[in-house]
This record gives sequence, structure tokens and C-alpha cells, in this order.
Amino acid sequence: MDTSEPMLPLDAEDVPASHPRAPRRRQGGVASTDVVMSAHMADNAEVFPQVLGLHVEKGATVADLTYGKEVFWRNVPAGAYRLLPSDLKLGQCWRALPYEDASVDAVVFDPPYMEGLYRRTKDALAGSGTHRAFQEAYSNGSVRAEGSGRKYHDAVLEAYLSVIPEAKRILRPSGRFIVKCQDEVSANRQKLTHVELIWAYEAHGFYCKDLFVVVRRNAPVVSRLLKQEHARKNHSYFLVFQRQDHRRRIDYSNFSPWLRDDLEILGTATVCFSSEFFAQYGQTETLPWIDNPSRKGV
Ligand SMILES: C[S@@+](CC[C@H](N)C(=O)[O-])C[C@H]1O[C@@H](n2cnc3c(N)ncnc32)[C@H](O)[C@@H]1O
Repeated sequence: MDTSEPMLPLDAEDVPASHPRAPRRRQGGVASTDVVMSAHMADNAEVFPQVLGLHVEKGATVADLTYGKEVFWRNVPAGAYRLLPSDLKLGQCWRALPYEDASVDAVVFDPPYMEGLYRRTKDALAGSGTHRAFQEAYSNGSVRAEGSGRKYHDAVLEAYLSVIPEAKRILRPSGRFIVKCQDEVSANRQKLTHVELIWAYEAHGFYCKDLFVVVRRNAPVVSRLLKQEHARKNHSYFLVFQRQDHRRRIDYSNFSPWLRDDLEILGTATVCFSSEFFAQYGQTETLPWIDNPSRKGV
């Protein structure tokens, strides 16, 4: 299947008057319904091979930092990629990986993604009784000792952000960073984890190139429901980022410059993550809105 994106013709007003008229581009390719779709009513093992198939070349070196029970790899033909599995359960932490600098083409990251899996005491971890298998599969099975001591949803975010230095170090320039996440309601507040991650990773030089939605087939049974406040989540995401921090300036952004500038949203993200976060996990020097002191606000 040809997955190259069709080139769209330029609008006339996009071509500056000082420029000679650009030749009109013609669309190539053939009409087909055989395309990879963004939303799937399926499980991770069905969707992950499609994410890889579209974004990672066959034979590439892929480091899966949270290999877990290798569910993601169940439908990926053995030998299609050079797989480097690691996991806390295999003795490696994503904060200190045993790989050379710029040695992998893609990183896969699927940490415990809900706040209930980052509780202080083991008894308070989400997933008990009939859900113990879930706890076993999705958390590291113990209370997280490392980190700043942030709690609840902040602990989830911190885990997602704490991988950035190692992901950047081991990824080759323009390599892919595939992140699994799910939004959550924490302390009765809507936490759109995928939005937070897209903002935060972009501030560290990752462009969000693609997004897949995975919808559960079965409906969860909710016990002790008094009054429903938020739609019950039955979907999660694969986000596909491209490493761009090696470039002098970021070429792509998910956010329109005027939105970034006028609303200073990234300025806000920078404030959130700057003093504390950058001190802990390293500064990103390449991005203009971070280097611009007027945007720092701290
Ligand atoms: C959601 S599961 C991953 C499931 C996996 N994608 C699969 O296909 O089976 C999260 C995994 O993160 C691992 N983990 C938790 N903390 C970790 C850490 N600091 N370093 C490496 N792995 C960690 C857990 O051991 C668990 O296997």
C-alpha cells in the first residue's frame, strides 16, 4: 500500500507576489479504500500493528520501554522489526536505558496511565478483587518510590514526562515516539491526558504526527453509580510523535502560531514545566517560545 501523503496544490494567496509563480502541483496516486484509519473499535493488539505499519519502516530498531505482557506485539510478525524489549519487570527502568545514543528508530511507551495505579500504599492501588489481573498487567505492582511525590493525575503526567530525556537520547533524529495514553477523570475533574501530552511533548521538540483512537468493544459495568457527571471513558489513544529537537527550529507544530502567541498557551505550559521540571529533566533550548524571555513568565 502506498502511504505517501498526496501533495495539495498551493492556494494563490499563499504564494508571495515577489516569488515567481510556483508550478501547480498535480495530485498523484490512485483511488483506494485500503487506507489506515484513525479510529478503531478494537483492542491494542489489533491497532498497534497498523500504527507501526504506517509510521515505522520494516526492519527498523524499535525499543519498547514498557513491554509488559507483550500484548502490543501479539499480531506483529516475528522478525518484522528489530525489537528491544524493556520493562521494570525485566529489570530496566525507562529513566535509565541500556541503549546507545541515537541508536533506535522508534520508541514505544505505554506506562501505567491512570492515577489509581500511582498510589502511595500498595493497598490503595487501583485494581483489587476481580480486577487484580488488571493491576498486575498495568501497574508495576508496587508503590512508585521515585519521582517528586506528585499525586493522582499529576503522578501520571510526571511518569509520561519523565521518559523524555531517555527517549530523546536513544532516538535517532526524526525517529518516532509512539505513546499510549487514556484520558481520565481525577478528583471529579476532567483530565485530557492526550491534550496535555501533545502540548508538553511539543515543548520538548516532539511533533504529534498522528493520533489513533482505540474504542473498547465491551461496556464497563459501573457499581454504585449515584449521579453520572462525565461520560464514561471507553476509548484510549496511540499518539505518534516525531523527534524534532535536533532541528534549528521546529518545522511542524500542532498549534497555529497565532493561537500560541495570542493565548500564550505554550507559555502557560512552559511555566508549568519550567523551573521545577526543566531543572529535573533538562532544558529544551531549540524552541523560540521557550527561549523568548517574555514568554517565560517565571
Ligand atoms: C500498561 S503496562 C504495558 C503493557 C504493554 N504495552 C503490553 O503490551 O503488555 C505498563 C508497564 O509499565 C511498566 N513499568 C512501570 N513503571 C516502569 C518503569 N519505571 N520503567 C519501566 N517500566 C515500567 C510495568 O511493569 C508495566 O508492564
